[in-house]
Amino acid sequence: MSARAVLAAATTLLSLGLSVPAMPGAFAAPVIERAAKGERCVEETASMRRNHMRFLEHTRDATVRGGIRGNKHSLKGCIDCHASRATGSVAQASGDFCVACHAYTAVKIDCFDCHATKPAAAVAAAPSAAAATVSTAASAASAPAASASSPEAPK
Ligand code: HEC
Ligand code: HEC
Ligand code: HEC
Repeated sequence: MSARAVLAAATTLLSLGLSVPAMPGAFAAPVIERAAKGERCVEETASMRRNHMRFLEHTRDATVRGGIRGNKHSLKGCIDCHASRATGSVAQASGDFCVACHAYTAVKIDCFDCHATKPAAAVAAAPSAAAATVSTAASAASAPAASASSPEAPK
């Protein structure tokens, strides 16, 4: 049977509502933990699902190139509200907010190579876990294009 014929057969089965072999996990929606803080997100939830990467990118540029902090779409803000009740982090366990969804959609981000995955207070309370992150000072110099425009230490 040609690939096309197989596809046609499968499509027919599906359209008839006949059972197709179970594929564990393949169609299961990700379980996304509800925000621990806040009544609402910084934008409409539907917009956040689609556009959060653009908001973050914009804020990153504003901060790293323009030295502007306290932005509405700050990554620190995301972490403050979305850190898991169980782990205190957005990206430590597979069920944590940022990871749950990205694993499902096969998105990989490097943000947490540098940024802490926990709110600043939690990081301060556990300094050893924070050693490798730049939630505070440390590596303004290693941030892309950061050294010239934002010499002062991050708050
Ligand atoms: C003031 C607290 C708060 C801040 C700050 C915040 N969020 Fe949210 N976010 C929420 C709430 C509340 C929802 C609605 C769904 C829920 O209750 O979890 C939500 C929903 C979302 C959703 C949709 C989740 C879903 O169920 O599909 C995404 C994605 C998201 N936020 C990403 C972010 C990102 C990225 C940032 C930082 C730029 C951020 N949020 C900042 C509170 C917040
Ligand atoms: C090489 C280290 C590094 C990586 C990787 C990195 N950042 Fe940053 N980022 C920094 C530094 C340093 C700052 C400046 C902090 C400051 O001055 O407040 C910063 C600032 C930011 C800001 C503005 C401050 C805030 O909390 O909102 C955002 C937003 C941001 N980064 C998002 C991201 C995102 C999203 C990714 C992944 C796509 C990422 N960063 C990856 C080092 C990094
Ligand atoms: C509701 C599901 C969902 C949640 C929750 C979520 N993301 Fe995403 N994220 C996605 C999807 C889907 C993409 C890929 C979008 C695309 O490629 O157009 C993405 C892409 C990104 C990207 C761009 C990656 C790239 O290589 O272009 C960044 C940065 C990012 N997310 C950061 C975060 C952060 C930080 C959090 C937690 C605060 C988070 N996301 C939570 C679904 C989610």
